[in-house]
Amino acid sequence: MPTQPPTLLTRTALAITGLLGPWSFMLLSLSYLPPTILRLLQAQQPLTTTLLSPARLQELWFSEFWSRAAGPGVRGGAGDKVVPLLQGRTSGGAVVVEEEGGGKGKGKGIGGVVLEVGAGAGLWVDVYKAVGCRIQGVDDDDDYDDDDGDNEEEEEEGVRKRKTTGAAAAATSGRITRIYGVEPSPGQHAHLARAIATAGMEAVYRVAPVGIEDLADGTKWDGRVEKGSVDCVVTILCLCSIPEPERCARELYGYLKKGGRWYVYEHVRCGHSWYMRAYQRFVNLFWPFFLGGCQLTRPTEATIRAAGPWAEIDVGQPVAEPWFQVVPHVMGVFTK
Ligand SMILES: C[S@@+](CC[C@H](N)C(=O)[O-])C[C@H]1O[C@@H](n2cnc3c(N)ncnc32)[C@H](O)[C@@H]1O
Repeated sequence: MPTQPPTLLTRTALAITGLLGPWSFMLLSLSYLPPTILRLLQAQQPLTTTLLSPARLQELWFSEFWSRAAGPGVRGGAGDKVVPLLQGRTSGGAVVVEEEGGGKGKGKGIGGVVLEVGAGAGLWVDVYKAVGCRIQGVDDDDDYDDDDGDNEEEEEEGVRKRKTTGAAAAATSGRITRIYGVEPSPGQHAHLARAIATAGMEAVYRVAPVGIEDLADGTKWDGRVEKGSVDCVVTILCLCSIPEPERCARELYGYLKKGGRWYVYEHVRCGHSWYMRAYQRFVNLFWPFFLGGCQLTRPTEATIRAAGPWAEIDVGQPVAEPWFQVVPHVMGVFTK
C-alpha cells in the first residue's frame, strides 16, 4: 500500500521540534552542571583550581554531559552514517550499497596508522572493530606481514604480479596497525581508557593526552607521531570544539601520508537559506557556553579543502537532513 505523504500539520510540528531542538539540548546540558559541582565538592577538589576556574569547570561539566548523555545519544543517531563512512561506503553524503564486482560503494575503509582526533570519552572506539577491520595484535591472521615493506613482486606461472605487503597493505586493506586517540581533556581520559579496555583494544589503541597542535612535541607527552606517517585521520564532531581550526587542519594534513585519507563527520555552518543562517548564528550566541565551547557556525568543509592540495574529495551533507536542521553536517573522505 502506498504511504501517505505527511500532512501540513505533521510537517509544521516536525519543523518546530527541529528548530527548538538546540534549546532542549542546552537545557539538558545545564542539568549536568549541579551534579558536576556536587561531585567536585564530594571529591574535595581544591576550590581555587576547579570551582573558581571557569574554564576548568566548563571542561568538566562538558565531559560529564558528553560522556553520560549527549555522546551516547549522538552515537545512536549518527552510527548509521559513521560506520559506513569508516568502511568506505559513502559518497556525496549518502551511504551507498556495495555493487557486485566493484563500482559505487567500493571505497577504501580505514586502515594502517589511524589518528582519531578529539576522541572524547571513546564513544567510537568499538566501531573500529565493528567496521570489520582486522586489527593487528588483536585479530592477527596468518597472511599479514608485519614489516614496513611496500610492494613486492612475485612470479607465478610466468606472470609478474605486484603484491602489496606490510604497512602499505594494512593501509589499503582495512587492517588497522595503530590508533592514536588524540584527546587533551583530562576529564575524558578515564572514560576513554574504559572504552579501550571494554573493546579489548589496549594493544592497538594509544591515547595521546594532548591537543592536535602538540602531537609532534615530544616534551608534551611520552610518544611521538611523525609528520607524513599517518594513513587515516578521523574527525568525528570535534573540529567544532578545537581552537584555531585552520591551523589544526593544516597540521592534520601534514600528518597524512601521500594517498592518506581523512574521514570527516562534523557539524557545520548552515547553508540552507539566509533565515536559517541567521537563526543558527542566534543560537550560537548561547550554544558554546552550554556545550564546552563548541561552535555551530564553522565552515569546516572549506577549512579542510584549504588545508592543502587534495587528490580526491568526496563529501556532502547527509541526505536525510531537512531544511530546518540547525546543526547540519558534512560527511565524507578527503584523499591526499
Ligand atoms: C564534542 S567532543 C566529541 C568527542 C568524540 N569525537 C565523540 O564524537 O564523542 C569534542 C572533543 O574534541 C576535543 N578537543 C578539543 N580541543 C582539541 C584539540 N586541540 N585537539 C584534539 N582534540 C581536541 C575535546 O576535548 C572533546 O573531547
